[in-house]
Amino acid sequence: MATVKVPATGAQIDDPAEIGAFLKPYGIWHERWEVEGRIGDDATAEEILAAYEPEIERLKRAGSFVTADVINVSPETPNLDAMLTKFDKEHTHSEDEVRFTVRGHGVFWINPAGDDPVFAIEVGVGDLINVPQGTKHWFHLCNDRTIRCIRLFQETSGWTPEYIDDGVHVEHPPVCWGPNFLTAEAGSAALGDGPVRL
Ligand SMILES: [Fe+2]
Repeated sequence: MATVKVPATGAQIDDPAEIGAFLKPYGIWHERWEVEGRIGDDATAEEILAAYEPEIERLKRAGSFVTADVINVSPETPNLDAMLTKFDKEHTHSEDEVRFTVRGHGVFWINPAGDDPVFAIEVGVGDLINVPQGTKHWFHLCNDRTIRCIRLFQETSGWTPEYIDDGVHVEHPPVCWGPNFLTAEAGSAALGDGPVRL
């Protein structure tokens, strides 16, 4: 279940309808997809894409997406820290960044155009969001360092980040919250030990 937070105001939004309304002016859409019984714990990328084919095909038709794949990040991922440094600095892309989470969770930070403050969207299993092309953003994993996502692309060549000089990501510690934040162990790891930067 997604959560939106605005650090500058202290606002937090948990209700899916309110999250959708908050994100809409920024061109960001959030959907909840039914996940119960769709895939097993050990599902392959092919099985995941097949299980969610109806939703993927709907998005492809609506958003000019031409390909979909599955990214699998876990503590066992080789060179994970190096990989994560590509995501944790403010950047833009020339195409939409669309992600549906099937395992784990993470935080998309958005630095909107204009005067609106930076906000963060924590996504978990069942959450789909897009980050529109040209939107300044960055991404952190949570302390479990795990996320498995379906990705959709508008270009078969995939995307490359275009980094922002003096990005504001340095002002926002990579913390997660929600159920993950409420367990004593996870909370202490996230708060006290320096959360995982992804
Ligand atoms: Fe990105």
